[in-house]
Amino acid sequence: MAHPDRFLLAGVMGWPVMHSRSPKLHTYWMEKHGLAGTYVPLAIRPEGIEAALRALPALGFAGCNLTIPHKETALRVVDHADEKARRIGAISCVTVRSDGSLAGTNNDVFGFIENHREAFPDWRADQGPVTVIGAGGAARAVVYALAEMGVREIRLSNRTGDRAERLAAELGVDCTIVDWADRHRALEGVNLLVNATSQGMVGNPPLDLNLERLPRKACVSDIVYIPGETPLLAAARARGNSTVNGLGMLLHQGRPAWRDWFGIEVQVTRELRSLIEATI
Ligand SMILES: NC(=O)c1ccc[n+]([C@@H]2O[C@H](COP(=O)([O-])OP(=O)(O)OC[C@H]3O[C@@H](n4cnc5c(N)ncnc54)[C@H](OP(=O)(O)O)[C@@H]3O)[C@@H](O)[C@H]2O)c1
Repeated sequence: MAHPDRFLLAGVMGWPVMHSRSPKLHTYWMEKHGLAGTYVPLAIRPEGIEAALRALPALGFAGCNLTIPHKETALRVVDHADEKARRIGAISCVTVRSDGSLAGTNNDVFGFIENHREAFPDWRADQGPVTVIGAGGAARAVVYALAEMGVREIRLSNRTGDRAERLAAELGVDCTIVDWADRHRALEGVNLLVNATSQGMVGNPPLDLNLERLPRKACVSDIVYIPGETPLLAAARARGNSTVNGLGMLLHQGRPAWRDWFGIEVQVTRELRSLIEATI
C-alpha cells in the first residue's frame, strides 16, 4: 500500500547512464514495499556534476548514486564525506540531509563484502593471502573491503604499476605490489583471487592471467557482471575453484543507500537477482 504523503525520489548520475541497472533495482524495492516514488537515470555531463548535485535538495531528492565518470569529482563537491570515502577517494552515494547539505559515502565496499559472504560462507580471511588484479576506482573499494575483512596479506598487481603503488599509499593499506609481468606467480598459495579490472567485461578481451599456480581450494571473485560468467570465472570453475561474479556487489550496495535515504531495510532476494539477471 503506497504511503499517501510520501513520494520517494532518487536516481543515478552518470555519463552515459542508460546502461545502468540501478533504476530496475531500486524500482523493484519501491514496488516490493508498496511505496510511491521513482528512481531515475540522470544523464549528467562531467562539467555539470556540481550543479546537478546541488539541485538535489530543491528538487526533493533523498539522494543519488554515482557512476562513471562522477565518483571522484562528486567527492569534492559534497559537504560531508565519511572517512571510508575520503580514503578511497571516491563516493558511490549521496544523501541529502535535513538541512539541505550533501553527505557522500562509498557503498561499493559494503556491496563487495556482502556478495563475498553470500557466495563463500566458509571462506576465512586468516587462511591465506589474497591477490587483487587492478588498481582503478573499483579496486580501491575492494582493497579497502579486504583490509576491513581482516585479510593480512594483500598482493596487488596492475598493468600500470604506479597506480597500484598509489592505491596502497593513499588507502593506507599494507599491500605487496607485484610487477605486472609476475602476476601469474602471485597466485601461489592464495585463498582468494579478485579481478577488479575491466578485462573480461563485454566488449573487452579476457583478463590475461594463467591460473596454473592458483590453489584449487581458492575462491575466485570477478567484480565484472556482464557477462554473467567472464572467461576468468569459466576457467576457474572448470578447474574446480568456487566462483562469484560482481552482480551481488551491485545489488547489495543498494541496501545502505535505502537505509540512508528512506530509513528502510531492503533485501537482496532470489526474485530480485533473477529480475536483474534477465536484463544481462
Ligand atoms: N560489481 C560492481 O558493483 C562494480 C562496481 C564498480 C565497478 N565494477 C566494474 O569494475 C571494472 C573496473 O571499474 P573501475 O571503475 O575500477 O574502472 P577504472 O578506474 O577505469 O580501472 C580500470 C582497471 O582495469 C585495468 N585495465 C584496463 N585495461 C586493461 C588491459 N588491457 N589490461 C590490463 N588491465 C587493464 C586498469 O589498469 P591500468 O591502471 O593499467 O589502466 C585498471 O586497473 C569495470 O568493469 C566495472 O564495470 C563493478
